[in-house]
Amino acid sequence: MKALVLAAGSGTRLRPVTHTGAKQLVPVANKPVLFYALEAIAQAGITEVALVVGPSSDDIKDAVGDGSAFGIDVTYICQDVPLGLAHAVLISQDFLGGDDFLMYLGDNFVGGGIAGFAEEFRRTRPGAQILLTPVPDATAFGVAELDGDGRVVCLEEKPAVPRSNLAVMGVYLFSAQIHEAIREIKPSARGELEITHALQWLIEEGREVRSCLHSGYWRDTGNVSDMLEVNRHVLDAATGEIAGEVDAESRLTGAVLIAPGARVVRSDIEGPAVIGPGTVVTGSRIGPHTSIAADCEITDSRIDGSIVLQGSTVRGVPAVTASLIGRHTTVTSAPAGDTAHRLVLGDHTRVTLAR
Ligand code: G1P
Repeated sequence: MKALVLAAGSGTRLRPVTHTGAKQLVPVANKPVLFYALEAIAQAGITEVALVVGPSSDDIKDAVGDGSAFGIDVTYICQDVPLGLAHAVLISQDFLGGDDFLMYLGDNFVGGGIAGFAEEFRRTRPGAQILLTPVPDATAFGVAELDGDGRVVCLEEKPAVPRSNLAVMGVYLFSAQIHEAIREIKPSARGELEITHALQWLIEEGREVRSCLHSGYWRDTGNVSDMLEVNRHVLDAATGEIAGEVDAESRLTGAVLIAPGARVVRSDIEGPAVIGPGTVVTGSRIGPHTSIAADCEITDSRIDGSIVLQGSTVRGVPAVTASLIGRHTTVTSAPAGDTAHRLVLGDHTRVTLAR
C-alpha cells in the first residue's frame, strides 16, 4: 500500500500566514500539522509516500526532505493548479501504478492515528473505504449516507441539506478502481474534480465503498479558529519538560515544555504551553494553551490561547488572546500617551483591536 498526501492547497483562510508559507507547515504545539499526518502514515506501516505540492513546495521540501526522519520514503509530485482532490490522484498515476493507496489531506488532524483504518482495508479489500465522523453541521463537508452494514449508499459534496451528520474526513483508502472513476467524472460547480464524485461513481457502478466511523478527535485545520483548537487539543495531552533556563523569579504551572536554549526570566507560564528553542520570555505571562515557536522575544506581555511562529517579537502588549502570529512579526505597544494604533499589515491580514 502506498500513500498520497495532498499538500498543495493555498490556505486562503489562513492568510496572511499562507502568503509566505504552506498551510500544512503551520505549527501545532511547535510541530507542523503535516508532520502529524506523516507520523500517522508511518505508524500504519506505509513507507512509499508521495507528497502532492503546489506553489509553496520549496518550504515543504525543506521541512520534510526525503522523509527518512519519519521512517518513510518521500517522492514529490507538483500540482501547479488547484483542480481538485481527484485531479491530484490523476497526476499521480505514474507513482501509484495499480497499487492500493491511502489518500491523506495534509491539513487534516486525526487524533489516534489511522492504523486501524488501514488494517480494516487490508483485511476486507473493498473498492474504496472512507473515514467518517459525526459533525454538528455537515454542510461544509462531503456527506455520506450508509446502509445498516456500513456500506456507503450515497455521497454528496457540501450539500445544502445533508442526508446525515456523517462528514467525510480527509483520509481515504482506494483500490485501483478509483482511477477508472476519475476518468469518468466532470469538474464540479467550483471547477474541481471532486473525489466525492469519483466515489459516488463507484457506488452507482455497484462497486463496494465501505466506511469506518472515527470516534476520536478530528479537525480540518483550514481556518484560524480550528488551528487554535487543534493546538489546544494537542497541548492538553502534552507532558512538561524543562530543557531551557528558568530563573528563580519565574513560576511554571501545569504541563510546560521549555525547549533547549529557551530562557524564561521573571515570568509566569501556565501550562499547557510550549516555548521553542532560542526564545526569550521576560516579565511576561504566557498560557494556557499557547505555543511560542523558536527564536521569539516575548517581553512585558501577556499571551494565552495563541500560536506565535518563529522569530517574532511581542513587547509591552498586556493581553493577546486567540491569535495566530506569523513569522518574524513584531507586536509592540505605542509610546506612552499615544492613543492611536500604528499598523503595518500584510495583505489579507485581520486585526481585532480591544477598545
Ligand atoms: C475536502 C473534501 C470533503 C471533505 C473535506 C475534509 O473538502 O472535498 O469532502 O469532507 O475535504 O477535510 P475541502 O477541504 O476541499 O473543501
